[in-house]
Amino acid sequence: MKLLAKTFQGLESVLAKELIYLGAKNVEEGKRSVSFTGDQKMLYKANLHLSTALSILKPIATFTAQDEETLYRNVKSTDWSKYMDPEGTFVINSTVRSPYFRHSQYAALKTKDAIVDQFRNRYRQRPSIDKEQPDIRINLHINRDVCTLSLDSSCVSLHKRGYRVRNHRAPINEVLAAGMIRLSGWNGRTDFYDPMCGSGTLLIEAGFFAKKMAPGLLRTYFGFMNWKDFDIELWESLRQKALSQVEEIEIGIKGSDQSLESIKMARENAMAAGLEEVTLSKKDFADCFPKKEEGILISNPPYGERLTNQNMINMYKKIGDHLKKSFTGFDAWFISSNKEAMKSIGLRTSKKWTLYNGPLECKFHGFALYRGSKKASKQTQND
Ligand SMILES: C[S@@+](CC[C@H](N)C(=O)[O-])C[C@H]1O[C@@H](n2cnc3c(N)ncnc32)[C@H](O)[C@@H]1O
Repeated sequence: MKLLAKTFQGLESVLAKELIYLGAKNVEEGKRSVSFTGDQKMLYKANLHLSTALSILKPIATFTAQDEETLYRNVKSTDWSKYMDPEGTFVINSTVRSPYFRHSQYAALKTKDAIVDQFRNRYRQRPSIDKEQPDIRINLHINRDVCTLSLDSSCVSLHKRGYRVRNHRAPINEVLAAGMIRLSGWNGRTDFYDPMCGSGTLLIEAGFFAKKMAPGLLRTYFGFMNWKDFDIELWESLRQKALSQVEEIEIGIKGSDQSLESIKMARENAMAAGLEEVTLSKKDFADCFPKKEEGILISNPPYGERLTNQNMINMYKKIGDHLKKSFTGFDAWFISSNKEAMKSIGLRTSKKWTLYNGPLECKFHGFALYRGSKKASKQTQND
């Protein structure tokens, strides 16, 4: 089957690598998505193992339409009884980029009408809409006049791993955190630090990565479980195999935050994730000192939406000063939408990616803090 994994802009390359590693064929990067081919086993594995996918779609019909009536007719001619029952529930998500369909909601409504009318005509009964917990989530994608209908095999976004029992006011998305870890090039075999850890998302995703723990292992529900062809034995065998692949780790996964409330949240979330390896302490970054001579630090500091920029510039400068003084030998990575403040870190950027934290365009900067090198303390004006 042809399948499509959706992700955030900027993470397509790492998602493609994850898919190739899983054994997917014909892997091709798109915009906020990666297409691939695979069988049912690959579909289940993708949902269970991919850390940088938001959902896995299975296209079931593609046609061209330049108006609502043609859309309606084509949707109605697809046999929906193959996918759901008249007493079931469904919902439609739509993405429309087309001069022919100006209102994505209206296109979704027409699609819904066509499905409901087909069931009503055939069975005198119709499935109902459930936006929260539908049996089937249908994805309508219109690009100019090419319409694609897909089943969402994840149904609930894959960033919902099942460990977030406490919510920070500014949490980073789990898929974005996993993507940052992969983009950094960390191999999972040196100590990992997040000194502004908030609710612990980066620490938990780092723990999963280092332990080779499939990020979907804690979830109890995926959309494909409601599909008529759900193969429970195949699914259980893949889960068991993923469980058996989880490794013990000897590295440190260390989180700290100046806020005690954040530390409590991170602790609860790490426990819910089954990661006893994560150690946490309440402290300011200036009081954070590594125990080993090498490792990685990845963090999501405040961007300063509520503070004046001078405060942020001073804060980021302090971060840079402390990194230079105490984290020699480490790789340090920060994500921020605050470009001015990022410059004031005062370290040479070794790598830079553009990523999106919700609607905010961010830069994800890597700094190599070479031992005994002047490079680390060299300020660059053009980063
Ligand atoms: C954007 S939040 C991090 C959210 C986190 N990535 C998550 O997923 O929940 C930034 C965190 O930095 C912490 N923080 C700010 N300044 C700090 C400092 N100087 N030292 C330690 N923590 C600090 C805040 O308390 C806050 O929890």
